[in-house]
Amino acid sequence: MVEFAQSQPVLRTYGKTAQGYRQFDQALVAQSRAARRQLWLVLPPLLLNTWLGQLALMALMAGITWLVVMEGDAAQQTTLFALLVLVSRVIDHLSEVASYSSGIRMASAQMEAAENVLSQMSLPAPTDPVPLPQHYGIELCDVTFGYQRGVRVLQNVSATLPANSMTAVVGASGSWKTTLTKLIARFFDPDSGGIAIGGVNVKDFPVVQHMSMISQVFQDNYLFSGTLRENLLMGNPAADDDTLRNVLKLERLNEVVQRLPLGLDSRVGEGGIVVGW
Ligand SMILES: Nc1ncnc2c1ncn2[C@@H]1O[C@H](COP(=O)(O)OP(=O)(O)OP(=O)(O)O)[C@@H](O)[C@H]1O
Ligand SMILES: [Mg+2]
Repeated sequence: MVEFAQSQPVLRTYGKTAQGYRQFDQALVAQSRAARRQLWLVLPPLLLNTWLGQLALMALMAGITWLVVMEGDAAQQTTLFALLVLVSRVIDHLSEVASYSSGIRMASAQMEAAENVLSQMSLPAPTDPVPLPQHYGIELCDVTFGYQRGVRVLQNVSATLPANSMTAVVGASGSWKTTLTKLIARFFDPDSGGIAIGGVNVKDFPVVQHMSMISQVFQDNYLFSGTLRENLLMGNPAADDDTLRNVLKLERLNEVVQRLPLGLDSRVGEGGIVVGW
């Protein structure tokens, strides 16, 4: 719903409001289906937990009452009543713990996803810097790559991107343009073939040296909640105002920032929505 609201300017500009509503409807139906599935998963154990707790309490109360009636000893009656009160207190807390179980289950699924990301092995890279290349031309030699086994995104691609020049990669949506730049930045290694910068295979650069030669502006970059300045400083916390101004100029963003009353100190919400104009 938030994405639908945020995309309104784009949908309206391109006259795609009907399409937007269709996707919005589909998303709502999918969401409602997922919520129902979730309810069926969570509700039975929750009810079972509660009923079991109550049943245990009732059984204990019945047992203790029966003992009290059978024994008829006044001293024992007091002890048994104290026990009854104690047990009811414990059962209350046990029910409370049971009510947290669904939350814990959901949190553990998210923890698992985070752990899955954190446990990914880094691509092997040398640690010693290699001599700087003579030029920064990029060469792709017979590159084949797929994100999943058996699904090839790039197939036997060879190309030369000369240094000090501009190369435009043009193609339909989903036709591998971003993938190509990710391979050059070595987010992934090709399944076969090689990529070189200045004649040096990208696998031979230590990560820091490789990154120092590449500057990427992604189409889906993300701004964190804070000011524009704070977001920019994430790349280099020591950068002074002149450096930031230079960066904005290079990215052709200086005009946009100048139009904001608070300039670089304008606050952006998570995801990049400018707030507090
Ligand atoms: N991380 C990923 N895991 C699995 N498949 C992916 C991943 N990233 C991209 N793909 C798939 O690889 C193909 C190429 O995607 P890519 O993002 O390179 O295309 P693109 O040309 O940049 O598209 P666009 O013009 O929409 O930006 C698409 O089919 C896409 O769904
Ligand atoms: Mg792309």
